[in-house]
Amino acid sequence: MKKIRNFCIIAHIDHGKSTLADRMIEITGTLEQREMKHGQMLDTMDIEQERGITIKLCPIRMEWKDHQLNLIDTPGHVDFSYEVSRSLAACEGAILVVDASQGIQAQTLANTYLAMEHDLQIIPVLNKIDLPAAEPERRAQELSTTLGIDPSEIISISAKTGDNVDQVLDAIIERISAPSVPEDLEGKEDDISKVETRCLVFDSNYDAYRGVVSYVRVVQGELKKGDKAFFLSNKKQIDITEVGCFRPQYVSQPSLKAGEVGYVVTGLKSLGEARVGDTLWKPGVDNKNIEAAEIVPGYKKVVPFVFASIFTIDADDYKDLRDSLEKLALNDSSLTFEAERSSALGFGFRCGFLGMLHMEIVQERLEREYDLDLIVTAPSVNYKISMIHDEEIIDLTNPADLPKRETIREIQEPWVKVELMTPSDTIGALMELCTGRRGVFKTMNHIDSQRVIMVFEMPLANIIVDFYDAVKSISSGYASMSYEFIEYRTEDLVRLDILVAGDEVPPLSQMVHRTEAQNRGSEVVKKLKDIIPRANFAIALQAAIGGKIVARETLSAFRKDVTAKLYGGDVSRKKKLLQKQAKGKKRMKAMGKVDIPQEAFLAVLKKG
Ligand code: GTP
Repeated sequence: MKKIRNFCIIAHIDHGKSTLADRMIEITGTLEQREMKHGQMLDTMDIEQERGITIKLCPIRMEWKDHQLNLIDTPGHVDFSYEVSRSLAACEGAILVVDASQGIQAQTLANTYLAMEHDLQIIPVLNKIDLPAAEPERRAQELSTTLGIDPSEIISISAKTGDNVDQVLDAIIERISAPSVPEDLEGKEDDISKVETRCLVFDSNYDAYRGVVSYVRVVQGELKKGDKAFFLSNKKQIDITEVGCFRPQYVSQPSLKAGEVGYVVTGLKSLGEARVGDTLWKPGVDNKNIEAAEIVPGYKKVVPFVFASIFTIDADDYKDLRDSLEKLALNDSSLTFEAERSSALGFGFRCGFLGMLHMEIVQERLEREYDLDLIVTAPSVNYKISMIHDEEIIDLTNPADLPKRETIREIQEPWVKVELMTPSDTIGALMELCTGRRGVFKTMNHIDSQRVIMVFEMPLANIIVDFYDAVKSISSGYASMSYEFIEYRTEDLVRLDILVAGDEVPPLSQMVHRTEAQNRGSEVVKKLKDIIPRANFAIALQAAIGGKIVARETLSAFRKDVTAKLYGGDVSRKKKLLQKQAKGKKRMKAMGKVDIPQEAFLAVLKKG
């Protein structure tokens, strides 16, 4: 155990996490250079590779100077912050990688604080020192101001050329402590077969051949093939058919002992039964009582924050959508869904996601891996509704289901703390952006003469759709942000309804603050006027609150003839154009007499 080091890498997107991991794998001889292709070794999902983002690396075990190093990754994206905290709990140290030309970013800062709260030893690393734009001194000063890091502890490297990466490996051995045994077992570790076994499940994966494979950090005891063990949250018993380590592919081992990181093949069929953060427990000689078993602290059931409905464009694909969602959920325990019938869109599913990136990934995987054409409605947060004549508090994830106004006592909405790291010359514009979305300014701290950290409290609903894009555009890409849930607050909220050609379209409804309802109403109908295709009759677009119309636009009649400019003649060309037009139509759904395109659902939420 003295020779084991468990660590993770904390970095902002593009600051070089995958490149550093690749270099370490190479330098330690874990894989030959010819076996490696950047990203492919560690980025697993197609979507991640295509977008050039790593949501999570695979864990990997390496050997360096007679020590076993286990690299466990933390996802860098805010949607996955619970998983970050679980991966951190499985490590004793973290490498903080900061791009020396960009400086530390908001999400990295938030994750580093989290690591410090878990008592992890931080190894600060400035990467990309080979770049002419690198400013190692200034960035070192920043790390000292924001995190209190001693500049002499910082290792400057180039993950690309491999410069100084060996120093990082040495630092892992020298600065990070070996895993420790729980106090009451001090001195008794040798009696490993007698003590009860407890493991933290920091991740789980669904494998087509093995079923559910749980990634664990053994806290005490030992796990072997053939053992019977239990998940403590649901008391589910499993028969372990294999244990092993990551190279990064699964390599089976005789056992996993206290302090080690590895995988356990559980024989389960659904990830929902082996949740991240749960404790895997095996009785010991003296401790056979599962009721008395002690859980590894910090487990929580993950709750979705963003909700939207998914429908197939072709109603006949409904069953395929259901099968695909079931398959996806096997692999993604944070995705929730339940059947829904909408008067406007037919049969579909109301789905819950961790955040917007999670929602996009699910949508993309359904369309790509399962070949479905989908309509995804405007995302909503979860509101808490308390009723006048009922004690029960209703969770409202779909504005269309809002009970009658007279029956409601109050409506609460989720608020978050937003942290922005940004160049000083954007302070005014960001202040305006945030307060314009009901943000409440809290604090501002200067990192140096050129950058500040601003903190706001804001309604979650006002940052999920286009807020980050707005922040990026104001700062020419230099600002970064992180956010965390703080509490539910009672607000004066109303539902803004949209009527198209006189018919209410419930999937376009949204909750808004009473003071901004009128303006939002006019904004929304103006936007829809640009998006909804004209028909051969005039279409009224109206916004209403509680049945009262607050804004109106009219889309005039027009018959679009794409072939008009072809002056008869070439028939095959005409056909081609018509096909193209039909394709463009695909992402629309007829509601009443009018076709509503996919863009409309997001556009109604976009501000400004
Ligand atoms: P995500 O996969 O988006 O999370 O990013 P990451 O943090 O894993 O970054 P990645 O390793 O993919 O590196 C991002 C880009 O920076 C790539 O184009 C790398 O080639 C480049 N890069 C990484 N390290 C260095 C370095 O030391 N020097 C230079 N010049 N480029 C580097």
